[in-house]
Amino acid sequence: MPLTRPALALFATVFLSAQEALPVKLPAPASGGATLAETLAGRKTIRTLGGPGLTLAETGQLLWAAQGENRPGKRTVPSAHAHYPLEVYLLTKGSATLPAGFYHYQPTGHQIQKLADGSPEATLGKLKGMQPWIAAAPAVFVVAGVPTRIDPSGKNSSLTFYEGGAAAQDLLLQAVALGLDAGTAAGIDMAALGQTLKLPAGTQAMIVLPVGREKGPNS
Ligand SMILES: Cc1cc2nc3c(=O)[nH]c(=O)nc-3n(C[C@H](O)[C@H](O)[C@H](O)COP(=O)(O)O)c2cc1C
Repeated sequence: MPLTRPALALFATVFLSAQEALPVKLPAPASGGATLAETLAGRKTIRTLGGPGLTLAETGQLLWAAQGENRPGKRTVPSAHAHYPLEVYLLTKGSATLPAGFYHYQPTGHQIQKLADGSPEATLGKLKGMQPWIAAAPAVFVVAGVPTRIDPSGKNSSLTFYEGGAAAQDLLLQAVALGLDAGTAAGIDMAALGQTLKLPAGTQAMIVLPVGREKGPNS
């Protein structure tokens, strides 16, 4: 017997069919704000991240910083041979302007495609070895890569990891410029994370970036 929608909702992450979710257009990235030197001075790892969740505009600005197009067909982050091996995913909750769920960023069109219901807590909370501060954040960005786009033999993934680091730093600096708080984590089981998120074959999760607002001592 096929599972009904309420029965499916019992699972932490419910994957959607393509018909169920149209892409969400993100607001055009804004220019201006803090100087680069100011954002560099403010970059630090915060592990007490709470809500409110990120707005659609904040989400769009962070994704654009990590992997958006800053001119036709080219991106904010340099790419070996312009092969663009990176894919950026997002788990989010608690936003007034973006429903909770698991999303994939599409640089062309500056939009996100919802892939599944879920949230950082529901999707990552029970993953073996997951660090609790990551799952507690209102938004968790996952920078993933497809190394075979650069090296078809699949033997050399170092360039893809280099690009992942550049994308991560762009996102972290953009978070500071937006007055958000963020951290970096790679000390988790990336293969298990990729399986949980049902990333396509050949797509490796490389770095996880929880983002939110630093909780005060009384929150
Ligand atoms: C590749 C990489 C992996 C990291 N993994 C983790 C992690 O799994 N958990 C964590 O709490 N912090 C992690 N960090 C954050 C570092 O612990 C942090 O950057 C370092 O302590 C310096 O502090 P700062 O970021 O505030 O300057 C990671 C940082 C990098 C660059």
